[in-house]
Amino acid sequence: MTRKILVTSALPYANGAIHLGHLVEYIQTDIWTRFQKMRGHECWFVCADDTHGTPIMLRAEKEGVTPEQLIARVHAEHSRDFAGFHVAFDNYHTTHSDETRYYAEDIFGKLKAAGLIEVRSIEQYYDPVKQMFLPDRFIKGECPKCGAKDQYGDACESCGAAYAPTDLKHPYSAVSGAKPVLKSSDHYFFKLSDPRCQAFLRQWTQHEARLQPEAANKLQEWLGAPGENKLTDWDISRDAPYFGFEIPGAPGKFFYVWLDAPIGYMGSFKNFCTKKGLDFDEFWGKDSKAELYHFIGKDILYFHALFWPAELEFAGYRTPTNVFAHGFLTVDGAKMSKSRGTFITAESYLTQGLNPEWLRYYFAAKLNGTMEDIDLNLDDFTQRVNSDLVGKYINIASRAAGFIAKRFGGTLLHGHVAERFHADLPGIIEAAEEIAGLYEARDTARALRRVMALADQINQYVDKNQPWTLAKQEGQEAKLHEVCSLLINAFRLLTIYLKPVLPKLAQRADEFLNVAPLHWTDAEYLLPPAHLINPYEHLMQRIDPKQIEALVAANRESLEPTVAPIAVSPAPSFAEPHSPQRHAQHQQATAAPPPQPSPARGEGVGGGAFAPVIGIDDFARIDLRVARIADAQHVEGADKLIRLTLDLGDGGTRNVFAGIKSAYDPAQLVGRLTVMVANLAPRKMKFGLSEGMVLAASDADGKSPGLFLLSPDSGAQPGMRVK
Ligand code: MSP
Ligand code: ZN
Repeated sequence: MTRKILVTSALPYANGAIHLGHLVEYIQTDIWTRFQKMRGHECWFVCADDTHGTPIMLRAEKEGVTPEQLIARVHAEHSRDFAGFHVAFDNYHTTHSDETRYYAEDIFGKLKAAGLIEVRSIEQYYDPVKQMFLPDRFIKGECPKCGAKDQYGDACESCGAAYAPTDLKHPYSAVSGAKPVLKSSDHYFFKLSDPRCQAFLRQWTQHEARLQPEAANKLQEWLGAPGENKLTDWDISRDAPYFGFEIPGAPGKFFYVWLDAPIGYMGSFKNFCTKKGLDFDEFWGKDSKAELYHFIGKDILYFHALFWPAELEFAGYRTPTNVFAHGFLTVDGAKMSKSRGTFITAESYLTQGLNPEWLRYYFAAKLNGTMEDIDLNLDDFTQRVNSDLVGKYINIASRAAGFIAKRFGGTLLHGHVAERFHADLPGIIEAAEEIAGLYEARDTARALRRVMALADQINQYVDKNQPWTLAKQEGQEAKLHEVCSLLINAFRLLTIYLKPVLPKLAQRADEFLNVAPLHWTDAEYLLPPAHLINPYEHLMQRIDPKQIEALVAANRESLEPTVAPIAVSPAPSFAEPHSPQRHAQHQQATAAPPPQPSPARGEGVGGGAFAPVIGIDDFARIDLRVARIADAQHVEGADKLIRLTLDLGDGGTRNVFAGIKSAYDPAQLVGRLTVMVANLAPRKMKFGLSEGMVLAASDADGKSPGLFLLSPDSGAQPGMRVK
């Protein structure tokens, strides 16, 4: 029976580059949809860029372009990256589209008619300078618990405390630096606490065999015990200025990005239906018989398994058949890190010349259909790809192809191959359905283990029959032909089993085998007798460990400052699923750090354009102190740094790495006075902790004519404040 299946991957934010973490999801979904297509089902795979929200608006402003220009550029970059990894969407659209607007307004209108929308006034922090309400991630201040400075409005990165932005001490806007004020405004809420939503979600999420067991448990936790009402209403509007869709009949109010993002799945599919002449309602109508699956990361389960089905249900659409959540990617056992060079972008992987199918294979070998995190261990990656793909699978073809070409004119055995194949390589054809079942269940780890076990079996057959020995023996011509013909057939079967994971390689194998594009049912039979194959060209290179070193080096963000340490925005933390509000703000804000003021017009002499004007309050936040250089040392392995021990009098001593080696010899520095920033957040560097920064003057490029460390006039004492 031909199934009708619609599949989506989560829509990536339009303000950041695709990285290897994202690719876990897009590759997993692509493998699954390619598998379904190979099985002959009608399967469509759609996605889009998630384009709305404050971070995108501010990012565009910072870059001096319109949000439309920014999202158009990113759309092209994302499309390029996905194509580079052979992620074959049937449609890649944008949420900033007429179709998405249509369904957002439609769903909102229907929820309103159902009595599930409510307007309430809420009080929030407002930036009086920038004249906008501030998402939690754009408010910073001192942690109410541990006092750490410069913490975000939702959680402290120093002590881990979670709190409301109004709990922060000395809050300031990360957009303008201004002190935020509390201001109230009307917001639209989706009444998730309504008994109808509760009842529906309990039934929907606990529906037999719907969700993964871990996901079902999580939802049980979110819903609370029967009788308990743990769901709260969801704030779905934001005030202008906002980049998004204005709410009909509510000037200055916009749909919150997470309201229209999943609706973007519908928008993208509608756009595809129009192009293709497909019937949208067959997939999304209330009575649709089609299957609908959303592949997502575990961090966005809340949106997809609570808000989204409830929205659809009460707006009169069908709900998803299932939501498939995967875990998060770590590299070498740790969160992807810019300083270690493991925050690897899709683009850099490709431009470094690495083969995208190596990564597809490795991810597939790790993914098992659960929400467990997966690790990309770079040594294991090299080893696994080289031994499995090149050593076991490709080897089968390369060992047999030469003899077929040279000794038999490229033709396989004329006689009956099937009988010998079943006798000498039993179980290889028969494995097809078992492997298909594993793909269906998204347990590609087991599917590939099964395929590699078959490859081992085939390689044992090679070792036992030694075609290279047969080739040298007289009277073994027929045997050699038989062995090599069986091997080419075995290679073809493995190619079918690997094709969802390795589509490009399979395409080249089709050419070599001289066959039409392989489908799953092609595994039911062997090549016909006397089939002619094409000359073999090597199908896949091994990974050279040097390529991996180069990749990591290319992604390592230098921690060596030119003058002094520069604050780097923290790497995104992807730990546990957390509250939806936090997710969006967190993800987006970290993908796009709050904008820096753009340089003011006018020339600064030698040092480049002047920075924009700031208030005295801004300046006062910088604690400058006189410091005595108590010690200065070369830093082994660093070509720009000197390690300084700074004496601050009663303020104790500080360890600071300063990028002044080009201009000073450590010995000349000891004993002299200088000025340091004493309240800069400590920064972990390759060589140790840097606890501040010394001030030096330089030209714009920091090189010519040199660097000049600041010193106070004589008489100043270590620890004195500079203002
Ligand atoms: N825009 C939202 C999704 C809206 S769906 C209606 C979003 N975007 S995202 O760019 O942050 O993430 C896109 C997908 O990539 C999400 O499913 C997310 O879980 C996944 N991943 C992002 N980083 C990841 C890892 N490091 N590891 C695995 N998956 C990750 O969320
Ligand atoms: Zn804290």
